[in-house]
Amino acid sequence: MNGKIMNPAVEKYIYGLLPARDAVLAEMERYAKRYDVPIIGPAVGRLLYLAAKISGAKRIFEMGSAIGYSAIWLARAAGPGAEIFYTDGDPVNERRARDYCKRAGVAERIKFLVGNAIKLIDRVPGKFDLIFIDVDKQQYPAALRKALPRLRRGGLLLADNTLWSGRVVGRATEATTRGIQQFNRMIYSSRELFPVIVPLRDGVAVCRKG
Ligand SMILES: C[S@@+](CC[C@H](N)C(=O)[O-])C[C@H]1O[C@@H](n2cnc3c(N)ncnc32)[C@H](O)[C@@H]1O
Repeated sequence: MNGKIMNPAVEKYIYGLLPARDAVLAEMERYAKRYDVPIIGPAVGRLLYLAAKISGAKRIFEMGSAIGYSAIWLARAAGPGAEIFYTDGDPVNERRARDYCKRAGVAERIKFLVGNAIKLIDRVPGKFDLIFIDVDKQQYPAALRKALPRLRRGGLLLADNTLWSGRVVGRATEATTRGIQQFNRMIYSSRELFPVIVPLRDGVAVCRKG
């Protein structure tokens, strides 16, 4: 939960409706809470899952994967034979993610890449059906510039934290908020994208290309 965008009582209500997660996702949620890992959580996990399912995405690139929580939601939606590219700058996160993904039964669909996601995408040839951006917020404009040409026509681009606890409203001085503000202007002024920011948790941008 985030509590700063949605009415907290309504947000609590929505989270109260969510079905229990399996043992692996539940353990990851506990770990993230305990060690302050900023994962998308189950409400946004379901949105990613739905987007991947509806679009039939099979080739997915994730920028900023941490312990693999969102990657598991995407990998489960994409199904057997799918290819999910996990990226994170922290090798400790990657080791933990490998273990969780194995236990979640999706490790064979996931390619684990460690380093700067904005550079790593250049190393993976071909187009993607879905790209999910969740890197450091000041990097969102650069991530979008790299992601957009790599998305197939009809593909989906999603990004988390696009309302950034409401800090996007008004003038901002921090690089993180300015990065998100610029990203939001870029997606809404793009001739290639049809974006919607869903005000769930911390705001999720969902955009279709073409
Ligand atoms: C918000 S967390 C990702 C959470 C994950 N998407 C989830 O919901 O399960 C952001 C992660 O991105 C990583 N990160 C930030 N900037 C990055 C970059 N440029 N390239 C790769 N990883 C990056 C951080 O190490 C951190 O683990």
